[in-house]
Amino acid sequence: MNFAGPIADLDRPAAALAPLVDPYARAITYLRVSVTDRCDFRCVYCMSENMSFLPKADLLTLEELDRLCSAFVAKGVRKLRLTGGEPLVRRGIMTLFSSLSRHLQTGALDELTLTTNGSQLAKYAKALKDCGIERINVSLDTLDPDKFRAITRWGDLGKVMEGIDAAQAAGLKIKINAVALKGVNEDELADIVAWAHGRGMDITIIEVMPLGDVGDDRLDQYLPLSMVRARLAQRFSFEDLDYKTGGPARYVRVNETGGRLGFITPMTHNFCESCNRVRITCTGTLYMCLGQEDAADLRAPLRASESNDAVYAAIDEAITRKPKGHDFVIDRRHKRPALSRHMSVTGG
Ligand SMILES: C[S@@+](CC[C@H](N)C(=O)[O-])C[C@H]1O[C@@H](n2cnc3c(N)ncnc32)[C@H](O)[C@@H]1O
Ligand code: SF4
Repeated sequence: MNFAGPIADLDRPAAALAPLVDPYARAITYLRVSVTDRCDFRCVYCMSENMSFLPKADLLTLEELDRLCSAFVAKGVRKLRLTGGEPLVRRGIMTLFSSLSRHLQTGALDELTLTTNGSQLAKYAKALKDCGIERINVSLDTLDPDKFRAITRWGDLGKVMEGIDAAQAAGLKIKINAVALKGVNEDELADIVAWAHGRGMDITIIEVMPLGDVGDDRLDQYLPLSMVRARLAQRFSFEDLDYKTGGPARYVRVNETGGRLGFITPMTHNFCESCNRVRITCTGTLYMCLGQEDAADLRAPLRASESNDAVYAAIDEAITRKPKGHDFVIDRRHKRPALSRHMSVTGG
């Protein structure tokens, strides 16, 4: 189901709009949208056990999210990723996917995708594929059901596996995201890589980032990927790849499996020079950098008028403030989160 006419009308002025280029000459072509801050899991590195969530009234409606995403598409965004929280727990979310898919049909958008914990995938995989989604990211940090429950606090590994089966059966390509956690999955990462590649899936290993207070000491979780890579190298040999997704991952080919393995190392390696992305939260706040506090409110201009002029102006102004990079630090002097907001607010 698509939303009614006025939104499609707002899509129209695209050709006349100036594209988004930041002060460091980086073209902004990738938008990540956190459609909800809620989730059916409580991963230990992402949320505290007793999270308080935003009142529903503060959220943008699905129609407003569509309008905002479409404004970015009109400003030259070519890739749109819905994330969260868990995007598939937002009520009516398939309406938004379905509506946004019109931009794939017109060619304005190259890719519409999502990052999910997989818990609802069995239900939605086919519908996602029918919306023109080709590839998805599924987050999975362990193949052990007990460990899975411990990491996610509430999650059921069996459901995620069913979701992965359903997604592959529907023809969706999957990339697995695994967060490296000291003393939790570090001895299992090689098996997870072999499993993912055995099922034809790419995998990216991610360093824990200091986002939001999760009630645990980050030093206990943090495992530098240099150590992960050294350990994986005891079992696998790697060939560096040029393959780039415009994102922060650096990829290698694993010779023994033939599969692709990415490393995202925000803590030990800076990847900001090639940053092409910005993020909006489910309340319409635009973050120009995942690792900085500076933000712009797009909800007020969105609600102030039926025309998008004020939204475009607010986006243009915000992009002039996109910082050169972030400066996350986890060491013994910086045990508190570098940023107070959780990953589930800005989206991963
Ligand atoms: C915030 S989640 C949102 C989408 C969905 N719920 C999921 O888990 O895929 C997106 C990604 O961020 C990762 N993530 C969450 N908190 C993180 C942190 N503090 N450091 C590094 N990665 C984190 C998750 O593992 C997941 O791969
Ligand atoms: S990482 Fe994803 S699944 Fe886990 S708590 Fe955060 S939003 Fe939920």
